[in-house]
Amino acid sequence: MRLLLFVVATTLVLSGCGDPTLSALLPQGPVAESQYWLMKLSVSIMLGVFFVVLVIFTYVLIRYRKRPGQDGIPKQVEGNHKLEILWTVIPFLLLIVMAVPTVSINFALAKQYPKEEALQVKVIGHQFWWEFQYPDLGITTAQDLYIPTGKKIQFDLTSADVIHSFWIPSLGGKMDTNPGLNNSFWLQADKAGVYKGKCAELCGASHALMEFKVVAVTPDEFGKWTNDYKAATAAAPATDLAKQGQEIFQKSCIGCHAVGSQGGNLGPNLTDVGARERIAGILENKPDQMAKWLRDPQAVKPGNKMPNLNLEPGQVDALVEYLEGLKVKQ
Ligand code: CUA
Repeated sequence: MRLLLFVVATTLVLSGCGDPTLSALLPQGPVAESQYWLMKLSVSIMLGVFFVVLVIFTYVLIRYRKRPGQDGIPKQVEGNHKLEILWTVIPFLLLIVMAVPTVSINFALAKQYPKEEALQVKVIGHQFWWEFQYPDLGITTAQDLYIPTGKKIQFDLTSADVIHSFWIPSLGGKMDTNPGLNNSFWLQADKAGVYKGKCAELCGASHALMEFKVVAVTPDEFGKWTNDYKAATAAAPATDLAKQGQEIFQKSCIGCHAVGSQGGNLGPNLTDVGARERIAGILENKPDQMAKWLRDPQAVKPGNKMPNLNLEPGQVDALVEYLEGLKVKQ
């Protein structure tokens, strides 16, 4: 009884978890839809088998139960040819019903689209953040993946360190990113919106914090974002404090972080960091949170590659002002 209560309570609580930006059960694009359709197909066949077996089982239990006055072992029956054939053929047919669409959808989803038909995006997994390169646009960014709606996105995926897995549940997936290997698959978002992405492979201490966002915008807005992104790299700091921040950045940070095409690539490219959904994928993008990150990155995301630079409070303020000002105007 207690187990039953637990199951009912859990079901009720979890049924509230549906989030169209994070659920494979609320598909937001053609890939996620076909995968969801396959899930529904196999679950309904399995449920059908379960109920048929349950009904036969119950019928046999009642119909052939031991009755009063009945003694000894009942008549032993084995090797009924008709039944044997029946319960071999039915599962075989059910497997074919599942296999044909599964195989054909698998091939359709593994198709590689050239740049005439799909936007090409290179994804590189890092402990514990995501790098996105648009080779045909000359853009490198991180954490926020901008894509146009209604267009196929062809991903080429690899890793800079260990195995990660690139997963956007509401758009479909997932796909491993392996060091030294390239995987590929495509996805598409039909509606504009922000979709949540996760790393789905245990990759170290902060695996659970390795989040990213997919920002799907209309093709027009995407074109504008592309142009603005390139223009933003040249923007000068707006205030004196930001200018101080830029100087600190160019001394202490630029070895690992780039703004535009200037700088290292060990850490995320920060060209539009002030406009990103989150800082480090998890903190709200607000000045106090940015300061929290800069004061001690390891406290926020244990095991990440950014050291504590032991910045003075004044330096943190200047850097926050500079970094929050790095935006791509929309
Ligand atoms: Cu990267 Cu888990």
